[in-house]
Amino acid sequence: MRAVLVREFGGPEQLRVEQLPDPRPGAGEVLLAVGAAGVNRADVLIRAGQYHRAGRPPLLLGGEGAGTVVAVGAGVREVAVGQRVVAMGPANEPGFYAELAVVAAARVTPVPDGVPLTAAAALPTAWLSAWYCLRTLAGLRAGEIVLIPAAASGVGSAAVQIAVDAGATVIGTARTAAKAAWVRELGAQHTLDTATLDSAGLLAEMSRLTDGRGVDVVLDTVGGQTFADGLRAVGYAGRVVAMANVAVAPSTVDTRDFYPKNARILGFQLTNLIEHGYDPRSDLTELLGAVAAGRFEVPVDVVFPLAEAAEAHRYLERRANRGKVLLSTGV
Ligand SMILES: NC(=O)c1ccc[n+]([C@@H]2O[C@H](COP(=O)([O-])OP(=O)(O)OC[C@H]3O[C@@H](n4cnc5c(N)ncnc54)[C@H](OP(=O)(O)O)[C@@H]3O)[C@@H](O)[C@H]2O)c1
Repeated sequence: MRAVLVREFGGPEQLRVEQLPDPRPGAGEVLLAVGAAGVNRADVLIRAGQYHRAGRPPLLLGGEGAGTVVAVGAGVREVAVGQRVVAMGPANEPGFYAELAVVAAARVTPVPDGVPLTAAAALPTAWLSAWYCLRTLAGLRAGEIVLIPAAASGVGSAAVQIAVDAGATVIGTARTAAKAAWVRELGAQHTLDTATLDSAGLLAEMSRLTDGRGVDVVLDTVGGQTFADGLRAVGYAGRVVAMANVAVAPSTVDTRDFYPKNARILGFQLTNLIEHGYDPRSDLTELLGAVAAGRFEVPVDVVFPLAEAAEAHRYLERRANRGKVLLSTGV
């Protein structure tokens, strides 16, 4: 099979297509012909040697993908050959930047008719995380106001739609006017352009938009100053979910920014949660059903061919994407 390998940590040029032996499923595993694979920031960090759990090269990237089951190992009853499924592995496994991938049957969810493999492949990381953080962790209710920094991103664009679907009002931030306009098209009632507003300006706007009450929920993927600002933006009984730090910067937090408001800080990491017993299949099934029913439109920005994996990483790294970036094997 063709697969994208990292033989040395470094820039996008380290992503090279190679010919590898076809993998075979063991007991309890399934073999997928990969149709589409998600390209995530975690993959970029792994490639650059900046991800603590990645192991050493040679590395085959890709923790989420969708495809068709072409073989099953002994004891697999969950899915059958020919079925379309979406799958996710533990951190950086099993390597969906490839034509074939072996994954545990317990990590596979059937894709309903009418949902393209490209949309399905976009769900396990960004969409599932936004879904879990807003609904389960933050307990978002209709009528509440949600702040979504980097709302045009993979996670952000999912969160906007999930929050609007829950009956919440969304304030989304994005770095350009064009991205901000796109976030409004997704359903956000208010957008703020981080290219023109500094921290104080953003906080003043959030206060104005909430009549001084503050927002109810923040879903923060940016970290650094943005996380610290989220604590200030939140009002009484607010919930601030921290789930990433793309800024790769520490936050200076004043406890007086949250305890007097009875606000809560909540941490989230999907792989860690799964390792501690969370089975994502029922949430993924619900999400896939909602996509099939037309409740959500999964924004897939660009689908790059496998051979252009380096270009896909560059695109993500220069913050060009609106929604998800994928790789396709052409299957
Ligand atoms: N904890 C978990 O389980 C979990 C699950 C899913 C994803 N994540 C993480 O969540 C983060 C967001 O994922 P995603 O798929 O939404 O990423 P993405 O589509 O690549 O978007 C990231 C966006 O963050 C904004 N940003 C702000 N400051 C930035 C900076 N200093 N450098 C780069 N970008 C910056 C950019 O939007 P603007 O240009 O508009 O500012 C950028 O497009 C990633 O770190 C990912 O690994 C964590």
